[in-house]
Amino acid sequence: MEKILVTGGAGFIGSNFVRVVLRERPEWQVTVIDKLTYAGRLENLAEVQDDSRFRFVQGDICDAKAVAQAMEDCTMVFNFAAESHVDRSLMGDPEHAGAFVQTDVYGVYVLLEEAKRRGIKRFLQVSTDEVYGHVPEGYSLETDPLEPRSPYSASKAGGELIARSYFVSHDMPIITTRGSNTFGPYQYPEKLLPLFVTNALDDLALPMYGDGLQCRDWLFVEDHCRGILLAAEKGEPGEAYNVGGGNERNNREITQTILRLLDKPESLIRRIADRPGHDRRYALNCDKIKALGWQPSHDFEVNMAATVKWYREHEAWWRPLKSDAEYQQYYQRNYQERLKESAAA
Ligand code: NAD
Ligand code: TYD
Repeated sequence: MEKILVTGGAGFIGSNFVRVVLRERPEWQVTVIDKLTYAGRLENLAEVQDDSRFRFVQGDICDAKAVAQAMEDCTMVFNFAAESHVDRSLMGDPEHAGAFVQTDVYGVYVLLEEAKRRGIKRFLQVSTDEVYGHVPEGYSLETDPLEPRSPYSASKAGGELIARSYFVSHDMPIITTRGSNTFGPYQYPEKLLPLFVTNALDDLALPMYGDGLQCRDWLFVEDHCRGILLAAEKGEPGEAYNVGGGNERNNREITQTILRLLDKPESLIRRIADRPGHDRRYALNCDKIKALGWQPSHDFEVNMAATVKWYREHEAWWRPLKSDAEYQQYYQRNYQERLKESAAA
C-alpha cells in the first residue's frame, strides 16, 4: 500500500493520473494538493471526490506549511503542479512569467525539502520534452543537454535540475519523466487541441501560429500517466525517462484531423503572427522507458477521435471556462491583434 501526494492534481494530466491510480492501484491512497489557479478545477476531480481513498487539500506548493500538512504520512510524491502554458510564460510580467519561476522552480525546492525531512521513498518530478529545446533532426535522448528556449521550458529545466541536485547531494530517490505533447479529456482550452476543437464547434477562427509546420509528438493522456507511474515504480533513482507517443504530426495535420472529425471547413484556419522563439520540433527516443515495460497502449487516430468526441459531449465543462473573465482577457491579449492581421491558411 502506498500513500501518495499528487501535486497539481486538479489540472489536466494530474486529474487523469488520479483516476488511473485509483483504478489501477486499488490499495493506494491519494492526496492532492492544488492551488486551484485558473487551470486547476475541482470539476476535473468530480468522479473521485467521494472515494474514501482520496483527499483534496487546496494549497500552494511554494507554501512550506501547506506542503508539510499535505505530505503527512506520504510514501511517494508526484509533482505535476506547474504553470504549464508557453504563451502565458511569454507575457513578460510578474503575473505571468514570474509565476513560472515561482511554481516550477521554487515550488519544487519546497517539495524537495519536505520530502527530504520525511524520508520519502520516491519523488517523481513530471517534466517535459521541451527542456531539450528545438530538435532539428533525430530524437532526443535522456543524456542530451538541456537547452530550453522559452520561460516555461527554462523553468521546468530549473525544477528538474534542483530535483537532480537533491539526488546527488542528499541521496534522495528522485526520478524525472519528460513527457511529450499530451492530449485527452479535461485539458484547459488554451492549449492547441482543446482550443481548436472548442473554437471549431462554435465556428470561430482557429489561430495557427506561423506556417503551422511545427512538429510535436502527440501522446494520449492515459499513456502519459502510465509512463509516469511505471517510472516511479520501476525506474532508477537519479534517472530521467522520456515518455513520447511516437506520433509526430505538424500543427496543420493536427488541425486538419480536428476539422475532419468535426466535419468543419478548413476556412476556419487563420494564420497569425508566430509565437516568439517558437520551437519547430520536439521528438523523443523512448527506448529507456520501453525497456521498463512501457508502451503507448492506444491507437493515435482512435484516441484523437475519442478526445474530440469528449469535448463535443462535455460543453458543460468547457463553456464556463471559456466565458470566464480571466480567460476572455487572456484570449484578447494573446490573439486579438494577431487575428486582425491574420491570413487564410
Ligand atoms: P495544467 O496547467 O492543466 O495543471 C497544472 C495544475 O497545477 C493546476 O491544477 C494548477 O492549479 C496547479 N498549480 C499551479 N501552480 C500551483 C502551485 N503553486 N501550487 C499548487 N498547485 C499549483 O497542466 P498539465 O498540462 O496538467 O501539466 C501537468 C504537468 O505535466 C506540468 O508539470 C507540465 O509541465 C507537465 N507536462 C505537460 C505536458 C502537456 O502537454 N500538457 C507535457 C509534458 C509535461
Ligand atoms: P501548445 O498546445 O501550446 O503546446 P506546446 O507549446 O507546449 O507545444 O501548442 C502546441 C503547438 O500548437 C505549438 O507548436 C504551438 C501551436 N499553437 C498554435 O499554432 N496556435 C495556438 O493558438 C496554440 C495555443 C498553439
